[in-house]
Amino acid sequence: MNPAKPNAAPRLTSRALAAVAAFLVLAGAGLWIVMTPSRSGTALIGGPFQLQTADGKTITDADLKGHPFLVYFGYTHCPDVCPATLAQISDVLQRLPDKPIRALFVTVDPERDTPALMADYVSSFDSRIVGLSGTPDEVAKVEKAYRVYARKAPTKDGDYSMDHSSIVYLMDARGAFVEAFNLDRTPEASAKELAGYL
Ligand code: NI
Repeated sequence: MNPAKPNAAPRLTSRALAAVAAFLVLAGAGLWIVMTPSRSGTALIGGPFQLQTADGKTITDADLKGHPFLVYFGYTHCPDVCPATLAQISDVLQRLPDKPIRALFVTVDPERDTPALMADYVSSFDSRIVGLSGTPDEVAKVEKAYRVYARKAPTKDGDYSMDHSSIVYLMDARGAFVEAFNLDRTPEASAKELAGYL
């Protein structure tokens, strides 16, 4: 205990509690958004979008129809969660060799993440992971369609990081949302579930 600062411990505790509470609210809101079905029984996630690949081509939701796909939002400057998640997705895909399933990695940071940078970034993962960017407008539209939370967080060095939700969306062959895909298990178990949608 530091007698000069009698409130130090309680203050820290309440700050920690506030952080935990904020996290729970965010996590709860995210879950609510993902789990709440619409009246038709299909969650209102996904829909039309248009993004850019590294070779200057446009990719739309229509190009993906016919096979299931995963969608994950993040950014190349992400220090931990994005690369870890992409590595997990890669591990799962490698257990489904030659299967026509793709995983889209869509940037939430179109200012820095060009289509070329996205493609370069995903090149160290399974080749069926597609890095996508677009104009800020195109990215905003796809974020809205997938109910993605993303916000700039300034860093001390004058730069910024992105706070963002981290959900892997499983979409079926018609492009309809199936579920928030569970990677918190063995890659074999995840691959087995994915195979059921092929
Ligand atoms: Ni990230």
